[in-house]
Amino acid sequence: MKHLLSIDDLDVEGLTELLDLSEQFVAVNQREIPKVPALRGKVVASLFYEDSTRTRLSFETAAKRLSCDVMTFTVSQSSVKKGESLLDTVQTIEAMGIDAIVVRHAAAGAPHRVAGWTAASVVNAGDGRHEHPTQALLDAFTLRRHRGPSLDGCRVAIVGDIANSRVARSDVIALHALGCDVTLVGPPTLMPPRLDGWPVTVAYDLDDVLPDVDVVYLLRIQKERLGGAVDFPTLREYASRWGLTAERAARLKPDTLVMHPGPMNRGVEIAADVADSARSLVTEQVANGVAVRMAVLWSLIGSGGPVV
Ligand code: CP
Repeated sequence: MKHLLSIDDLDVEGLTELLDLSEQFVAVNQREIPKVPALRGKVVASLFYEDSTRTRLSFETAAKRLSCDVMTFTVSQSSVKKGESLLDTVQTIEAMGIDAIVVRHAAAGAPHRVAGWTAASVVNAGDGRHEHPTQALLDAFTLRRHRGPSLDGCRVAIVGDIANSRVARSDVIALHALGCDVTLVGPPTLMPPRLDGWPVTVAYDLDDVLPDVDVVYLLRIQKERLGGAVDFPTLREYASRWGLTAERAARLKPDTLVMHPGPMNRGVEIAADVADSARSLVTEQVANGVAVRMAVLWSLIGSGGPVV
C-alpha cells in the first residue's frame, strides 16, 4: 500500500490486517515508555488546511511514538496566506525530504491531487464531504474490541448530518465490509440526494430504529459545509427529533454502544449525560486512533519488519 486515500483502498483482508496490527500498537501504547524505533529516520509532514484537534494530534503522536520526525504545517502561519498554492506547498515540503504527508483539506479529492505530485506516501486525514478513512479504521477497531472479533450482523445506526459527512461515507464502506448492517437516520434534508450503491437502509424516525440497534453513531451538523443554508427549522427541533437525549438513551438495549467521531455538540446531537455515560465509547475511539494511525504509518512507510 503506497497511499491511504479512501477506505476503498483496502479490501476485507487489508482492513482486517490493519485492525490486527493496531492491536500490537495498543500494546506499545500501554508500555511505560510508549515508543518504538520502527520508523526512526523517517519524516512525516502533517498538512492540515482545515481545523482539527483529534486527527492532527493523533497522527503527530502516532508518528512520534514510531520515532519519526514530524514536520507540522499550520496554514494560518504559512505562506498559503501570501497566496502559495497547494502544489507549491507540497513541492516545498517535499524538497526538505519527507516520507509521508498527512493531508486534511476542505476540498474533496485534495489528497488524491497531492498523491499525484509527490513521491511520498499520502494519507487522507479528511477531505471535504468525501472521506475520512482513518476515522473509519479507528471506529471499526473500537467496535471490534467490544463486539468482535466478528462484526457480522452488528446493527449500526449512523444518525445525523449524513449529507455533509465524510465520516459517514467511510464508516459505511468499512463497517459494511466487516459485516455490519448499517442504517442511516436523519432528516430528509440532511440525507445525500442520491444513495445509489450505498449498502444501507435509510430511516427518518430515530425512535423507530433505536430499540433494535447495537450501536448508535452520532454525527455533528457540519455547519461549515452547509454554506449558510438551514436544512432544518431550529437546533432545538433537531435535538428533539434526532438527538440522542437521556430519555432516548434510557430506551436503548442495555448493551447498546454510543459512538461519535468528535467534535461533539453536546445538547444537540448528543446529550451531555449520554456522552459521559458508561455506554459511550467517545474517548476510547480517540485513544484507539493513535494505535490505528501508528499501524497505518507503519504499513505505508515501514520496512515490514516486526513491531518491537
Ligand atoms: N473526528 C475528527 O476528525 O476530529 P477532528 O476534526 O478534531 O480531527
